[in-house]
Amino acid sequence: MSKTKIVYVCNNCGHESLKWIGKCPACGLWNSFEEKKLDLKVGIFDKQNYDSLPVFITDISENLSELMKTGINELDRVLGGGISDTAVTLVAGDPGIGKSTLLLQMAGKLVHKQVSVIYITGEESPSQIKGRAQRLKLSHCRIPILVETNLENIIYQIEKIQSKVVIIDSIQSIYSSDITGAPGNISQVRECSFHLMRLAKVKRFALFLIGHITKEGSIAGPKLLEHMVDVVIYFEGDSFHQYRILRSLKNRYGRTNEIGLFIMEMEGLKEIDNPSRLFLSGKDKIPIGTSVICSFEGSRPILVEVQALVSRSNYGVPQRTVSGIDQPRLALLLAILEKHCHIHFGLNDVFIKVVGGLKLNDPGIDLGIAMAIYSSYINKPLAQNSVYIGEIGLNGDVRPVSQTDRRVNEAVKLGFTKIFLPISSITNTKNGNRYSIKAKLNPLDHITELIPSKNKG
Ligand code: TYD
Ligand code: MG
Repeated sequence: MSKTKIVYVCNNCGHESLKWIGKCPACGLWNSFEEKKLDLKVGIFDKQNYDSLPVFITDISENLSELMKTGINELDRVLGGGISDTAVTLVAGDPGIGKSTLLLQMAGKLVHKQVSVIYITGEESPSQIKGRAQRLKLSHCRIPILVETNLENIIYQIEKIQSKVVIIDSIQSIYSSDITGAPGNISQVRECSFHLMRLAKVKRFALFLIGHITKEGSIAGPKLLEHMVDVVIYFEGDSFHQYRILRSLKNRYGRTNEIGLFIMEMEGLKEIDNPSRLFLSGKDKIPIGTSVICSFEGSRPILVEVQALVSRSNYGVPQRTVSGIDQPRLALLLAILEKHCHIHFGLNDVFIKVVGGLKLNDPGIDLGIAMAIYSSYINKPLAQNSVYIGEIGLNGDVRPVSQTDRRVNEAVKLGFTKIFLPISSITNTKNGNRYSIKAKLNPLDHITELIPSKNKG
């Protein structure tokens, strides 16, 4: 005996509801609910449900397959060391950022290593790809290119060629004839990705899916896609900067938040091996409203200049504009400066900019941002050759951050002589002097030690 039940499922995030609703309460998307018939078997002891059996973790054979290096170190770093044999990787980013360029360069390197790879595109013509290959000096490289948008044809070709690495550019351009709706439609993206992913696991190949992002910056298509794949990497930077930043948001094979740095040149993307100096202006004198911070990105410290501008507001509501950090973080730092240092920004616009188009989330940059704001406010430059490391707590205390040693060493390596850092990062060690360095360390306990609260009263 069986009976059917109707549920409504959001085709973006998979949220289920017994009634049709216009706006999904889980992901906020409108008109995303589709009717789904569930076949409910009456009687839970139905024999055919018991095919799979549990196994002991000790009985599972170890996956000893080696990671395959792509030959592009910065990409390998973000992937967690290389390509795992059945990994499904989603590469997302703004149009024109360089996704196709990066993966074509990767395909070229893999072909060079005799790895069988196929580049499937639904977006460009063979001559456009040839044009790109010429710029990348790959026009003589035998990379198999398939211009196809139909999923069934793609699956047929993948099975025939038996590639070890499959690149799909882009998942939004592929459609399956079994599903209604145009390519890029949420159901199409979900079903096509699901089929390709299953094929990757069964036929054992690594799959790279290029994904578009929406105006809001999230991957276009179902949110479920991010949960289904093994690795999600974002390609960031803007068309006005040459720098391109590859960032892993999810990685089942390695650490997340690892970044890879590239520069877009006439002959494609070039890796940046030593990024520390990149985001510093290299000027002898540090200007007003600028500070140098040390952000820990993934597994390495990077020194970056932060600029702040505090100016008189000409509008009713003062402006708070940020580039490279989150808006709430600026609001928080301004509130801390108001409360503990008695600086009032009610009549000022405040702008913050991280140079080079880098986006920073590390809490260890708080102190540097606060100092840049202060410098602009008092219209005086900060001490030359200084680096600021530390998170600022709500009560104005300078809090320890991770990897202080490596941040300090990096700053010293680049010739900075004054390092401001949380006192607890120093006193936590046995002898209180773990840094054998030439720079002067300035331990701090509270923000008021650098920004006096003289405006009190
Ligand atoms: P592309 O890889 O097509 O971007 P996406 O696939 O993310 O949309 O990159 C397009 C941009 O990169 C385009 O503006 C031109 C620029 N570019 C270079 O500057 N140098 C190059 O060698 C190549 C191939 C592209
Ligand atoms: Mg492209």
